[in-house]
Amino acid sequence: MPVGLVPTMGFLHDGHLSLVDLARRQNSSVITTIFVNPTQFGPQEDLEGYPRDIPRDLELLEKRGVDLVWIPDREEMYSKGFQTWVTVDDVTRFLEGKMRPGHFRGVTTIVAKLFNAVMPDKAYFGQKDAQQVVVLRRMVMDLNYPIEIVVAPIVREEDGLAMSSRNVYLNPAERQAATVLFRALKTADQAFKAGNRDADGLKRIMEEIISSEELANLQYISCADMDSLEELSGQVNRGLLSMAVFIGKTRLIDNILIGI
Ligand code: PAJ
Repeated sequence: MPVGLVPTMGFLHDGHLSLVDLARRQNSSVITTIFVNPTQFGPQEDLEGYPRDIPRDLELLEKRGVDLVWIPDREEMYSKGFQTWVTVDDVTRFLEGKMRPGHFRGVTTIVAKLFNAVMPDKAYFGQKDAQQVVVLRRMVMDLNYPIEIVVAPIVREEDGLAMSSRNVYLNPAERQAATVLFRALKTADQAFKAGNRDADGLKRIMEEIISSEELANLQYISCADMDSLEELSGQVNRGLLSMAVFIGKTRLIDNILIGI
């Protein structure tokens, strides 16, 4: 009687719900958690302003046939004097981990706590957060959790923008500009498929497209090994193309796997 766990920070969209649907198909019981985890937000980040709508989330989850929704209190997860952390070393040093110090320590600690409490057979995560998946797979192996990590593809809006709770921060002009991330990834993917295998060449293609969008400010662009997340150079046969881009004040991430 397998139990599937879908951890979220709420303000659910079709990306989250695709994980719920997948879990529903693969398990006899599905548990979703909603918790805006303070320890994975940096001091300058959007913790307090993070969008929340619990009544709407509960309605959506009920419609999808989720058996249990767990919404822990902050105090329940982080008691006074909290000082015990789960950290993953090497794969957190790159990409998001480099730009957001402490972020993955917060993610691994809360996910370990959710795993300990729920003890699911399978846990569901989105490829949208590609590094999060790599980090959590490592954690599960290293801590011998008897839990299968299931990864679901990125769900996108019709114009290619990856769904994200943070997309609500975008004004109409920014929303339009935000399509540049996927356009850059798709163009690089097409170039790769047409035989352009040079890591730096692929990054240049993406950079040019991002810089052509006035409202976009590139934070990083990467072509990395999909397991170690180390940056690649020269000819590549497979890899993870990823980026973080500010559209106005809103920080968006997106990625695509090439060569698989
Ligand atoms: P959150 O950003 O709410 O995302 C919850 C899950 O939904 C993550 O696994 C994320 O990768 C997935 N997801 C988000 N947008 C998606 C999209 N467009 N397509 C497919 N999947 C998508 O990620 C977190 O919360 C937190 O870090 C968490 C794991 C809950 C720990 O606090």
